[in-house]
Amino acid sequence: MSNIFESHAHYEDEAFDEDREALIASLVPNGIEYVVNVGSNVETCHKTVKLTDKYDFFYGALGIHPSEIAGVTHKELEWIAHETGHNPKIAAVGEIGLDYYWDKDNKEQQKDFFARQIAMAKELHKPVIVHSREAAKDTYDVMCAEKAGECTGVVHCFSYHKEEAAKYLNMGFYIGIGGAATFKNNNKTREVIAYAPIDRILLETDCPYLAPVPHRGKRNSSLNLPIIARCIADIKKMPYDMVVSSTYDNARRMYNI
Ligand code: NI
Repeated sequence: MSNIFESHAHYEDEAFDEDREALIASLVPNGIEYVVNVGSNVETCHKTVKLTDKYDFFYGALGIHPSEIAGVTHKELEWIAHETGHNPKIAAVGEIGLDYYWDKDNKEQQKDFFARQIAMAKELHKPVIVHSREAAKDTYDVMCAEKAGECTGVVHCFSYHKEEAAKYLNMGFYIGIGGAATFKNNNKTREVIAYAPIDRILLETDCPYLAPVPHRGKRNSSLNLPIIARCIADIKKMPYDMVVSSTYDNARRMYNI
């Protein structure tokens, strides 16, 4: 059986406070070989660094999520840049991007933070983890203006149509696929899975969020990744092991791990 690469998780989240150690200890015996823990604000970035210090198989990404930009100082961004540049366990800048579902009133500020963090990633030669919700056009425009193709990365939890996927793939980006692909009415994401080449797809949970069917609505964890790999295998009419091994290779290539 091939091993699985979890490309996007939030194990610092309070949803894991009760049993974090036991759950993390169960990952490797269940075939999860690597985890990238993703920060979204200054506090979760610090916690991400701690998790990567504690667990050999944990790597991290540091960045400010578009819904978390209020009050973030220049000094804090400098700390993120310094840590990302000097800590060998920090593999990417993220998650960064645009979210017009939660916040529509600060679009210019969101774009500014997104652009600055892409520039940071390029300077540090790290990939970016992009969060984009109801902001397809502006996300793509900022990425083009900042020449994000030079650092590449992943558009995580991809939620747009395959026409959009084509544009990010052409820019050299990967497509992150998680539990939403199993949701009943989500033919849009299943079309993206059918369309995207298997060597450009990453497996992710975004846990504790977005548990796949039949666990929808419950706390998610990397232990559910086989459900997502099975879903991709069925859509692409491909052996399960090939999905697992390709997504594993893709994540190691993208994160340079
Ligand atoms: Ni996330």
